[in-house]
Formats: sequence, structure tokens, C-alpha cells
Amino acid sequence: MSMLFDEGLLLEDCTTAETIVRLRRLTLNDAPAIAAALGDFAVARNLTQVPHPYGLDDAEAWLKSVADRRDMLAAGVSVDGALGGVVAIDASGATPELGYWLAAPFQGRGVGRLAVRAFLDFAFAATDLATIDAGHMLDNPASGRLLARLGFRPTGETDAFSKARGATVRLATSTLERAAWTNGQPAIETPRLSLRMPTRADVAEIARAAEAPIGLATAPFAELALTAEAQAFVLRAAREMRPTNLSLILRLKEERTVVGGVGWRSVEPGVVELGFWLGAAHRGRGLMVEAARATLEAAFLGGGAKAARANCRASDWASRQVLIRCGFQWEGSTLVRPASGGSLAADRFRLDRDTFLSFREWAAADVRAFGG
Ligand SMILES: CC(C)(COP(=O)(O)OP(=O)(O)OC[C@H]1O[C@@H](n2cnc3c(N)ncnc32)[C@H](O)[C@@H]1OP(=O)(O)O)[C@@H](O)C(=O)NCCC(=O)NCCS
Repeated sequence: MSMLFDEGLLLEDCTTAETIVRLRRLTLNDAPAIAAALGDFAVARNLTQVPHPYGLDDAEAWLKSVADRRDMLAAGVSVDGALGGVVAIDASGATPELGYWLAAPFQGRGVGRLAVRAFLDFAFAATDLATIDAGHMLDNPASGRLLARLGFRPTGETDAFSKARGATVRLATSTLERAAWTNGQPAIETPRLSLRMPTRADVAEIARAAEAPIGLATAPFAELALTAEAQAFVLRAAREMRPTNLSLILRLKEERTVVGGVGWRSVEPGVVELGFWLGAAHRGRGLMVEAARATLEAAFLGGGAKAARANCRASDWASRQVLIRCGFQWEGSTLVRPASGGSLAADRFRLDRDTFLSFREWAAADVRAFGG
């Protein structure tokens, strides 16, 4: 049964851990680059559906068909502004199928892994896909290696017809289940909380928890209380590069309910800005101190940050207290522009990694998969 993707999923670029590599929406202007790349037999021979020769008309026809299809999610791999390749999920068949290629000059530089990984992260976070299948030709070890590194599990072999080769080829098939993908995502466990990246399945709960949130004045979260806002929040989290930027939701371990969010945003090299919010029903129990300390630990030890900053509304004593209990020091006053608009008097706080680590007297959190 085919699956339909929401329109506009790729309206904005997805970033990867390498600033020059991004995933972006394809347009008809990409036809010449696609025609040049797929006209190369060395690329086309690894794909089943691409004929040889392959020209501008073929590329234009493909781009037009993709623009019309809701059962396909396709992104251009932009490398330093140039279209280096394409990565796509075709959900028209029984199980969604991953496909990807890079033009010859972009191969063998690690771009494939970065791009396919960012695309899978985005696809799992932004949709309800349960599994994604893939197949690579037995004589294409680079692709097999790439899939294995991304956690795909081999499922067997099958025959397929390669249009470019004009012959039947042997394919190794593999699959990536949502649970396996989830296991590879950044995660933090504290005594009372599980911190995870938000996905589409969390939207309703995020909106409910955020009905009356408290948070830092510059928390990198817009308003979240409406479903559409929570949806936009999840998409933003899925698009942004990790570990440079990160957004996590807090779930109480016992009740399994979402209670708030915490995250950071890179503001200058090595410096992140911390933001958080907590649902009104969950204040006063030290939950945010627990979450913020663990998140800072992840930023400093896994995310490579050297310092953290935070801005806190002058009147927001609860948030100020959270910052102080994490070791932040007051730096001065400023004016901030919260997501809700206007400007507010705020205090600036800063925490260096060394100060944090020497200040830390609490038990280390269980931090997983923050290495980028
Ligand atoms: C397959 C493809 C997307 C891989 O992207 P890439 O950026 O070139 O690959 P990477 O540099 O990220 O390397 C991927 C892995 O393959 C390994 N690899 C590369 N060439 C290899 C080879 N000939 N034999 C074995 N492994 C190889 C790399 O060492 C790397 O493994 P590592 O992460 O353990 O170091 C790209 O080569 C390509 O587009 N090929 C043509 C089209 C195609 O094959 N599409 C896939 C169809 S299933």
C-alpha cells in the first residue's frame, strides 16, 4: 500500500553535520546537472531505473513527475551550492524504498553517508514510516557499505533489471526499521526523564504539554501550544544539523508523558545557546535542573561545545534558578526578542565547559549517540 507524504516537507533545506552539504528541494533548474550526472554510465549502471544514454529530456520528465507525486520524497544533495546528487524514498510500493546517487566528482568523499543519513533522519522524524527498504547491486560495494553503516539489516537477494546495462542484475536487499533508527538517535536518560528527539508521533503531546509553558525568554522554540506549531517544531528539529543544533523533548519515565523541551543552538563556533520550556503542571519538582544538566553534559562532552550561553527574562526566577544550579554565571543585561514577539529585559548567563565539569557534583547522565 502506498504512503503519501505531506506537501511542503522539503520547503526548507535540511542541514547535515558538514556545513557545505545540505538537502534541498529539487526544481526544474536541476535538470542539466541531473542529466550530466546520470548520463555517466559509471553512475547509471548502479541504478535499475535509469536508461543509458540519459539526456536532458529524461531529467526534465523525471523532475516533473516527482513534483506531481505525493508518494515520493526526493531531495537534491547540494554540495557547496552545486547539485551533487539525489536521495529519495519511493513509497508507491508495498514498502517505501530508498534510492540515491551522486555524480562522479562527488563520490568517495563521505558525502553519500552524510546526505543519506540526514535524509533518513528527516524521513523517520517527519513522517510515520515504519520501515525503509533498500537494494544495492552485488557489484556495488560502496553502496552496500553505506547502507550497513547506516544500520540497514540484510534481508536477502533478488533479481532486478538494470535499464542502463540492459541486463538482469543481482541485488542485495536490506531494511531499516524505525526501532533500529530510533536506537541510533541521540538520547539522554536521567533518573526521572528520558530525553529524545521529537518525531511526528509526539506532535499532539507536545502541543498539550506546551499549553502553558515556562521557559527562557530566548528559548529556541516558537509557540508550541497549537498542533500546527508543534508540527513545525518537530520539522525544524528534524531538519537541523546535529550535534551543532539539537532539540529534545522530555518524557517522564514513569508516566511516559511529555513534560517539556530542552535544546541548544550553535551561536558561534564552539558556543551553544541553551533553551528550555516546561509544562505548567510539572513545575517545582526540579525536572528542568535535571534535564538541563544532562543536556549540557551532552553538549560539552558529545557535541564538542566549549561554552554555553543563555538569556533569561529578568522576571523569570525559576529559569534563572535552573541556570544557576547548572553552574551558569551572570554576565550582564540585554534585550531579547522572544518567539512571541516584542522585546524584553533579560539577563545574560554563560557557562564554560571546564567550569561545568569542575562544578558538577551530580551523577553523570546516560548520554548516547551525540557524536555527530
Ligand atoms: C553509492 C554512493 C552514493 C556512495 O556515496 P559516496 O559518498 O561515494 O560514499 P562514501 O564516501 O560515503 O563511502 C561509503 C562507504 O563505502 C566505502 N567504499 C567506497 N568505495 C568502495 C569500494 N569500491 N569497495 C568497498 N567499499 C567502498 C567507503 O570506504 C565508505 O565506507 P566507510 O564509511 O566504512 O569508510 C556513490 O558512490 C554513488 O552515487 N554511486 C553511484 C550510484 C549508486 O551506486 N547509487 C546507489 C544505488 S543502490
